[in-house]
Amino acid sequence: LGISGSIRRQSVNTIVLATLRDRMTNSHRVSLTLYGLQELPLYNEDLEADGFPPPVAAFHTALRASDGLVLCSPEYNHGISGVLKNALDWASRPTIDSPLKGMPALVMTAAPSPVGGARATHQMRDALAACLARVVSRRDVVIARVYEKIANGKLIDAEAIDFALQAIDDLIAEIRLLRLTLKRNKNATG
Ligand SMILES: Cc1cc2nc3c(=O)[nH]c(=O)nc-3n(C[C@H](O)[C@H](O)[C@H](O)COP(=O)(O)O)c2cc1C
Repeated sequence: LGISGSIRRQSVNTIVLATLRDRMTNSHRVSLTLYGLQELPLYNEDLEADGFPPPVAAFHTALRASDGLVLCSPEYNHGISGVLKNALDWASRPTIDSPLKGMPALVMTAAPSPVGGARATHQMRDALAACLARVVSRRDVVIARVYEKIANGKLIDAEAIDFALQAIDDLIAEIRLLRLTLKRNKNATG
């Protein structure tokens, strides 16, 4: 599942994910589905106590149906976007059995600045770790000066695309490794 940390219509982070989705189709034998965070309410424990609101329930269903997660977020004031943090807070519930528990996850950032949103990657990793997700350990995918790398609603910078696709390969390898390990453990105990 691909989740952009921005709900802006022309979001460069959403464009990055959409380009990767389109570039993955044949070679990777997996698909990347984009999930928009527009409908999620602000996290509130009172809402949770009354039962997940329908947009949150739908978000949980999409997460549980996924094998892995790709987050691509802008950096807002040197940190994670509020939209994405809010989504992770909803996804983290209930703590002992959240849809993020054990989920392989890859983080990326894209921003017009020369730093490329890199400062948000730390908070994304920390929040995912708190949710017991398995953050893929690799060199950060940070797409700097991203406005210069987009044309006609697509990421067109070959170097950035290749690097991000390599990261997705790493995520896929992590998912396959995890599945193999779980299968072996099941066979050993069963
Ligand atoms: C409230 C706000 C804070 C921002 N703070 C940063 C920042 O700390 N670092 C940065 O690189 N860009 C910052 N930006 C610029 C965003 O990276 C830029 O608007 C980017 O296009 C947002 O991502 P999107 O296109 O996916 O919506 C900020 C933008 C806004 C609106």
